[in-house]
Amino acid sequence: MSELSRRGFLGALAVPAMTAAAPGLPPWPDANLSEEEFWASIRQQFTIPAHETFFNTCTLGAMPRAVQDAVIEHFRGSAVTLAHWDYRPENPDWFAGYRPQLELRGKLAALIHADAEEVAVTQNATLGMNFLAHGIDLRPGDEVLSTDQEHPGGRCGWELRAKREGMVWKPLPIGQSPEEIVRAFSAAMTARTRVLAFPHITSALGVVLPVKRLCALARERGALSFVDGAQAVGQVRVDVRDLGCDAYYSSPHKWLLAPAGSGLLYVRRDRLPGLWTTLASSEWDNQKAGAYRLMQYGTGNLSLLKGFEAAVDFHARLGSQRVEQRVMFLAGRLRAGLREIPGAAVYSRLHPELTSATTNWGLRGLNGAQLMDELWNRERIRVRASGPGVRQCCHIYNSPLEVDRVLALARTLATHGVSKSG
Ligand SMILES: Cc1ncc(COP(=O)(O)O)c(C=O)c1O
Repeated sequence: MSELSRRGFLGALAVPAMTAAAPGLPPWPDANLSEEEFWASIRQQFTIPAHETFFNTCTLGAMPRAVQDAVIEHFRGSAVTLAHWDYRPENPDWFAGYRPQLELRGKLAALIHADAEEVAVTQNATLGMNFLAHGIDLRPGDEVLSTDQEHPGGRCGWELRAKREGMVWKPLPIGQSPEEIVRAFSAAMTARTRVLAFPHITSALGVVLPVKRLCALARERGALSFVDGAQAVGQVRVDVRDLGCDAYYSSPHKWLLAPAGSGLLYVRRDRLPGLWTTLASSEWDNQKAGAYRLMQYGTGNLSLLKGFEAAVDFHARLGSQRVEQRVMFLAGRLRAGLREIPGAAVYSRLHPELTSATTNWGLRGLNGAQLMDELWNRERIRVRASGPGVRQCCHIYNSPLEVDRVLALARTLATHGVSKSG
């Protein structure tokens, strides 16, 4: 069945096209707007109230209206039309889990510069990490090198295998420069090192790792490179071919602004045969359909995948480069402002190649939870407590004005301390 006739068949389930504004959907900004007018207009695509400021994309991104609409309309439509489903293979499904989802995989592949067959749709980074950690053959004593700043969703599959089978998981500290980081990995590698498994951008501090150099190092020494891109896809440009990694996984419900429960896993074509399927259903051993055998997890929610696809479309319409420039501009403004505030400390790395749109910072005399609460209670600014400070993630729905409000409040708190009630 062609894509056109499939859409015709679905009728009420059709997702609104990005070009034609659905009723109530804010118009896309004109091309001739100034930079700040453009982003102010983009802010209208989001439904967080204007008096609330959201800086916690690292945990969960805010969905644009187009994404919300795609999910809700499909969800409602599929509930109404469920009886139309004849379950013939040439007609669409009403759920996810038993089809290769080639359209979505093609769009994700275009986003990260891969081929559709190399990309599996998962639910999150944690699944991607587990499919890699449990999918490769390792013997007792074989080593996997990581950083000491892995999120549990980038680490625990390796820990499980280490405990169960005796492979060795080695976390390394992250240095202050790309050279230091590469040197540490290089020095820790031995003849038993099979994998370098590390984040593209770390979770708590937002450190950008020298991914390309680490992947090259792995290749030179005959090891695999698996990259945790949970914090990268939708924040910075990702080109898996250029990075040279063997596998890459992400949680696009963060920076790509997809619905919670959206994941992607890329495995380079020539590495797929060496990777066992971890979750098995009918196509688990289908070696001819690329990464489809990594999508064998039973019934899933197709409405969420419609939202996932709308999020990829939304991002593509903006362009990865433009998004990256904007978020880095906002984060640079924040870090520059914090430098001017006595008593403020930035815990993220300061080397320009290691900085991202995420800044972990604090104030002398306040712990992270206090600072988080002050920002929320006084100004309805949402950051997340993290270690001694807070983690602040600047995304496209944030503005220079919002960054400046954080800085003004930080200055006040640094001078006068916390409120009595706080
Ligand atoms: C670097 C990194 N990896 C993995 C994860 C886990 O993500 P998820 O819960 O979506 O699987 C996170 C979540 O914050 C993360 O920051």
